[in-house]
Amino acid sequence: MNLASKQTTFALTTPLYYVNDLPHVGSAYTTMAADALARFQRLRGQEVLLITGTDEHGQKIQRTAEKLGRSPQAHCDEIAAGFQQLWQLLDIQVDRFSRTTAAPHKAIVAEFFQRVWQAGDIYEGRQQGWYCVSCEEYKEERELLSNKHCPIHVNTAAEWRDEPNYFFRLSNYQQKLEAFYQANPDFIQPETRRNEVLNFVAQGLQDFSISRAQVSWGLPLPVNPEQTIYVWFDALLGYITALLEPGDKPTLDNALRKWWPINLHLIGKDILRFHAIYWPAMLLSAGLPLPGRVFGHGFLTKDGQKMGKSLGNIINPFELVERYKPDAIRYYFLKEIEFGRDGDFNEERFVQILNANLANDLGNLLQRTLKIAQKSCGGKVPAVDLASLEVDSLKVSGVTLGEQVATAYEHLAFDKACELALNLVRQGNKFVDEHKPWALYKEGKTDLANQVLYSVLESARLAAFLLSPIIPNISQEIYRQLGYSGTIPNNWEHASWGILQAGQSLPEPSPVFARLEVQATG
Ligand code: MSP
Repeated sequence: MNLASKQTTFALTTPLYYVNDLPHVGSAYTTMAADALARFQRLRGQEVLLITGTDEHGQKIQRTAEKLGRSPQAHCDEIAAGFQQLWQLLDIQVDRFSRTTAAPHKAIVAEFFQRVWQAGDIYEGRQQGWYCVSCEEYKEERELLSNKHCPIHVNTAAEWRDEPNYFFRLSNYQQKLEAFYQANPDFIQPETRRNEVLNFVAQGLQDFSISRAQVSWGLPLPVNPEQTIYVWFDALLGYITALLEPGDKPTLDNALRKWWPINLHLIGKDILRFHAIYWPAMLLSAGLPLPGRVFGHGFLTKDGQKMGKSLGNIINPFELVERYKPDAIRYYFLKEIEFGRDGDFNEERFVQILNANLANDLGNLLQRTLKIAQKSCGGKVPAVDLASLEVDSLKVSGVTLGEQVATAYEHLAFDKACELALNLVRQGNKFVDEHKPWALYKEGKTDLANQVLYSVLESARLAAFLLSPIIPNISQEIYRQLGYSGTIPNNWEHASWGILQAGQSLPEPSPVFARLEVQATG
């Protein structure tokens, strides 16, 4: 599948994060993946919109602010700023930061609500059930642990609720959703998540309440201002609000004009039902086309347990980024954990992987060959004739690598994308060992030596280009050391073989990745 030839825009989202606390590595994980994919799509020449933001209403936030003795809005402002700061530190290129307390959002929610109301899909009823405030979700009794705690938030008891609420007729959409899943087998990924959703839907969909009688921190329900809108109904619409151009009048028409339907929602597996069932049903009710794809990734665990604010076992990403810099963190999480599966964070492993892959394999390949070029080629990329370049084993691998890596990114197989690029790097190191270009120069076999050196430098360039969505700073530095000025171009031609210009001047080389030491956690 070649997305680049099919479309010109690509909009993707991370979840809008709750602001009950500053981000932890779990929230950073989705955002790093989203940024890597966004950067890949930009390299492919797409116009990209990366949406992230914060989900600021609801009982969880209201209670957190109360505990801290702050107004909910002041609390949200502070935490939302923390998220924005972390995204900057991690070099996330955010196009839209959507906050659900922003004024345009209120207008979008009101207009959307009216559409669903007019479709006859909202009615008054009575909600009784167990509510997990941390999930902001009613749970079936059978889903809870024996002590009535939620299995995701084992420290928190679910609370019994019995109140008048307004309901959304999810049950109306059972067949339409099933037909949609059938017609769009790629809508929910990976396959295991798709099966989870299909099984859940097959059990029969129940209407769900979309208002709250006792939560004041929320948007007023248009048809009964005594109640507020359920935080999830409000939050999902934050994706639409994000599509407004700055300064646009906040109407659905304006928001949906350019980027709708969103191509991809990246989420964690715990919020799959909201995105793969509730959200498409709400959109069908409002008469809107459905998003392209929902991908539910796994959990980052620490000692086997989901890392989370409610469990208090978080790894602080601000500390990590200060200690190890953004590329290292991005690389570890995207390379080490198959996207879609759970993965454990271990600092020793972290240091080991980075040193092996980025310092030893990639950094070393570049250093050793750039030094030879300084010494034997007058500080220039060897003067080979590109048109008549011999086909060597690196070129054989290099010519097909771009499309293989593209396929991996398109399937969100970041680990595979890294592995493929790294294979070329490893092959490059072996190639240098075998052909010993320094010896060839000494023996006066200059043409052959030039060929060898060119192939290796070109391999390093190609690997850097293909890894740039994941390690943007290191890749940029490699390009600079290969004699390029300016930023790595958003031009997929650079994924081909033979792009490095023969005779290009090379600056003095220096290590692109300094070896790491395990440091004690503060
Ligand atoms: N506010 C909702 C999302 C609304 S989207 C319209 C929410 N927020 S959250 O902050 O609790 O979680 C946001 C995302 O972070 C979810 O996708 C969740 O799966 C992810 N993660 C939270 N903890 C995580 C890990 N330990 N590991 C990986 N992802 C984790 O849900």
